[in-house]
Amino acid sequence: MAHEEREGIVPEAVQIVGIGGSNRAGSTAEKALRIALAAAVRRGARVKLISGPDLVMPLYEYAAAERSERAKALIEAVSSADGLIIATPAYHGSMSGMVKNALDYMEELRSDRRPYFSGRAVGCISVAGGWQASASAVSALRTTVHALRGWPTPLGVTINTETTSFDVDGRVQDPQVAERLELVAEHVVEFALMRRSLRAQQMETSTLRELAPAQI
Ligand SMILES: Cc1cc2nc3c(=O)[nH]c(=O)nc-3n(C[C@H](O)[C@H](O)[C@H](O)COP(=O)(O)O)c2cc1C
Repeated sequence: MAHEEREGIVPEAVQIVGIGGSNRAGSTAEKALRIALAAAVRRGARVKLISGPDLVMPLYEYAAAERSERAKALIEAVSSADGLIIATPAYHGSMSGMVKNALDYMEELRSDRRPYFSGRAVGCISVAGGWQASASAVSALRTTVHALRGWPTPLGVTINTETTSFDVDGRVQDPQVAERLELVAEHVVEFALMRRSLRAQQMETSTLRELAPAQI
């Protein structure tokens, strides 16, 4: 049992950050992302959504002296996240430029306490007008997440708007898609909780070592 649970302190909820969607009003990628974040909330997480207009930022420039307010907010949110869920529309067989640009900004976290997405699970979702691009876009997204040292969840979600629609309230009509979005959220939250419990155990062990080095 984690130290804080034994002491009767209620542990703070894990923070899951959702990034993605498109700058199109009624973005289906954003709807899918919201469903996954709602599932994370049901599992006790706090969530933050960074989507659509929040992601309209200058093209990432490595040597720029200043960052826009939106870029700073994105970087800060990822730095403090315990897990992430990213949703992209498929544009020409890959993730959209807007989502890729947001991920390029993660370079600002190269020297962070946890560089890039280190130590965090990342759920990946793609939405396309067909199966082929939905698969290639989620694969591109997972590859980039992996390059950023994140842990893509075992299941990536592909949504084909030819066969799946969302109602006016943003609910997905296909129960299998709903189930997959739920599962991805579950994996991201579970991984965050496991990492937290591991950190608590590590802290406990190092405290014990400091108290009684000879007995360990
Ligand atoms: C610039 C552009 C490129 C697209 N390329 C593809 C594609 O290669 N394959 C595909 O199946 N759908 C493609 N689509 C369709 C989108 O993936 C699909 O409509 C998606 O749901 C849009 O996401 P959104 O609703 O979040 O804006 C493209 C759409 C746009 C605007």
